[in-house]
Parts: sequence; structure tokens; C-alpha cells
Amino acid sequence: MPPLTECVIFLCEDPAKPIPIASFGLDGNGDGHFGYGLRYIERKDAFSIDPLHLPLDAKQQVIPRHQDGSYGVLSDVGPNAWGVRLTSSILRKGKKPLPATPIEWFLQSWHYGSGCLGFSVSNEVNPDIGVRPAPVTALNERLLATINKLAVKIDTELDEEAVQLMQPGASLGGVRPKTVVMSNGFEHIAKFSRADDKFDVPIAEYATMRLACQAGINVPDFELLKIADKSVLLVERFDRTKDGHRLHYMSAKTLINIDVLSPDKREYKTRYSYAGIAETIRPRSQQGMADSHELFRRMVLNILVGNVDDHMRNHALLMTRQRRFALSPAFDIVPHLDATSLPQAIGVGAQGAASTISNALSQCGRFLLTVDEARQIVNEVREVVSHWRHVFKEAGMADTDIHTLTPCFTAADESERIQIAVTRGAPGAENNRPPHAN
Ligand SMILES: Nc1ncnc2c1ncn2[C@@H]1O[C@H](COP(=O)(O)OP(=O)(O)O)[C@@H](O)[C@H]1O
Ligand SMILES: [Mg+2]
Repeated sequence: MPPLTECVIFLCEDPAKPIPIASFGLDGNGDGHFGYGLRYIERKDAFSIDPLHLPLDAKQQVIPRHQDGSYGVLSDVGPNAWGVRLTSSILRKGKKPLPATPIEWFLQSWHYGSGCLGFSVSNEVNPDIGVRPAPVTALNERLLATINKLAVKIDTELDEEAVQLMQPGASLGGVRPKTVVMSNGFEHIAKFSRADDKFDVPIAEYATMRLACQAGINVPDFELLKIADKSVLLVERFDRTKDGHRLHYMSAKTLINIDVLSPDKREYKTRYSYAGIAETIRPRSQQGMADSHELFRRMVLNILVGNVDDHMRNHALLMTRQRRFALSPAFDIVPHLDATSLPQAIGVGAQGAASTISNALSQCGRFLLTVDEARQIVNEVREVVSHWRHVFKEAGMADTDIHTLTPCFTAADESERIQIAVTRGAPGAENNRPPHAN
């Protein structure tokens, strides 16, 4: 059979009643051609799945193939490095061929990726939402050992139990090992450690989410599990509702849509930045001002905890039931050891991506904040992060791991020292004047 180059896109807001909304096909250059169906456009509840690039009209629209092989909002649903590795492993075990085209990858999906889009070969055939995630209690030591192996060795064999448990997670984005499980009747994402991690990443992510929560950042419910001696982070899915419906999801990568930065990276000071996300969401958001303030708060936290992996795929929008976009709860916030040498992954202020609080404050007006309001947020976040050692220890992190992570918190620890010096009137304040000062 020739490789498939066309498919139909469905909205699976109610997974039991998928609605066909558009056709999507590839041309000879690999670019995508997208067209909403007339029947969909005429529905009262129709909405554009990407209002900036795919307005709701009857014309055929081009979704160019991005440099990384992705197709805008359609690829926000699908797997990245981990999902591709896992899917390949599952298909190999079933002696099935690997998808040969991007369309075949969409069709191959087990439909547990972000959001509510589904894919099928025709209008008449509903997307195959076949597997049901296993309960969290099914996670066990043997499975974790297999995942650990697969994360570092691509040809690791999966047994039947591992396939059952991991299959839904194969459609999720991101690079770290993960799957989808049911807990208290709701879908959760379980994030695992890798054998080559330099510290206990699930504990670090759990503790950082606790800091984020204490700093007033909107995070989903989350929990740390211990299975044998391994930690697993369990996070409730924010793109699912209590009545089992799915919410449309779009990454900031799709929203901002810049593949290649100029050599001088000037886009970091404009659109390819936290403020750029805030400004682009604002006209389309149900809560534009609140989203802007929240983005500023997240940016400050990421600087203070050394999360330099704050790239465009790690920020997202959800479509609310009122058919307006809103910033999603925060996810994937964890210190990175290269924080000492790398700037943030997207722009922070007038100095581009430089990972400093003064840079963060430099464009606070773009977040609709006065300097005083912005400083107030910085102080609140700083105060919370200054207790990071305690929070990480309480989460069960070993002293050696805390030591390993210390350089990530330089900005927070520095400001703590300065704060103490000023409030105690210690050196610096009085006696340590520069030599030529009066
Ligand atoms: N709580 C959540 N609810 C719904 N989707 C989520 C949630 N957390 C993460 N995701 C989605 O899963 C993807 C991978 O998760 P992430 O935590 O970023 O993993 P990684 O550490 O591998 O990058 C994200 O890009 C996002 O699309
Ligand atoms: Mg991520």
C-alpha cells in the first residue's frame, strides 16, 4: 500500500462523539494543506483551532512543514522524542511497520496526547480511541525498570504488561519517560526517572511545583509516589474536565510560530519571549490581564529556580468552554544543571534571554505591570524560593542531590544573602563602602 498522505481531523471534546472538522494532506514538498469542512464551519459552536494561522473559513490553508518536521497546532497533540521512541518500541513488539509519513504518525496515535484533536482516514471512520489508561496502582518496580532501560537503550524489548501500561503515554509530547494513568477516576500523567539522571528528577520537579504553588502560580494537582525505591511524579491532566471531556490545547510554539531566529536574536526582545506570549494571548484570552501577570510570575520563578528549559513547548493555551483561550496551568518546571551557563530559552526583557531579575523587570509594562507591582511579585516569589532547601528536603531529596542542585539557585541564594545583609545592617550597608565614596 502506498504511504498515506491525507487524513481527516476530528474534535474529540466528547471522546464518545468525535466531530470531523477538517481535512489535512501533504504536498510533494512536505508542506501541509488544511481545509475546514463546510458542515463544521456552519455549526454554532465551531471555533478555529489556531485563530492566528488557521482562521475559520472555507479556503484551503497552508501549514508549512516546520524545521523540526512539525505542523503547527496539529503537532501539539502528538509525540516528541519519548513518544516516538515508545511508539516505535510498541510497534516493533507487535511486528507492525513504523509510520512512513507524518500523516501516518497522526493516524497511528493512541489519542492520549494533549488536547482534543483526533485523526482518522475518513469522515466516516471515528478516530480510534481504543485503549483505556491503566490505574496508577498498576505501576510496579518491574515496569519502572523496563522504562528506565528504554529511556537509555532504544531497542529495549517491552513485555505485554509494559505495552498495556505505556501505550497511552506514547502519544504525549516531551522528552522524558512518562505515561497516562487513571487516579481517582481522572487521567493523570506519570513522569518517571531515567537511569542516567544526575539527581532525582521526579522529586526535584515535585518540589519545584510546590514552590510554584506557594508562589501563587497556577499548577495542576500533583503528587509524589514511591514505587520500590523509585520516585514518580503524578500530575493531574488540565486538558480533561471532570465530566470526561477534553479541552483543545495549543502550545506557545504554535502561537508565536518562529522557526529561525535572526543571528542577533533580536526576537528575544520582542515576540519570542514571555512578554511576546502575553501580548499575543491577550486579545484572544478570557483573562488577558491575569494571564499576563501569571506569565511574569512564572518567568521570575524560572529564573530563580534555574529552569532554563522554559522553551515555547513548555507554555500552552487551553480553549475554555466559552470558546476563548486561557493560559494553561504551569508544567515542566524543574531546575536544570546547565542553568549556571545558559540563559533562559526564550526572551525575558530588554537584555534578551539573560537570566536575571533586572532583565525581567526591564519590560514589565508589556505584562501590564507597573514597576512597583512587578517588584512586589519578584519579592513574593523570592521569599518562597529562598526556602528551597527546606522544601526539597521535605520532599525527600537526598543531601547529595541538594548539593548538586545548589548552583541552579544562585540567583535566589544571592538575593537572600543581600536581603539579610541589608536588614541586619551587616557589612556592605555601613562599613563596606567603596574606597572613594564619601
Ligand atoms: N498536567 C498536564 N495536563 C495536560 N497536558 C500536560 C500536562 N503536563 C504536561 N502536559 C503535556 O505533555 C507534554 C509533556 O509534558 P512535560 O511535563 O513537558 O514533559 P517533558 O519533561 O518530557 O518535557 C507537554 O508538552 C504538554 O503538552
Ligand atoms: Mg516539556
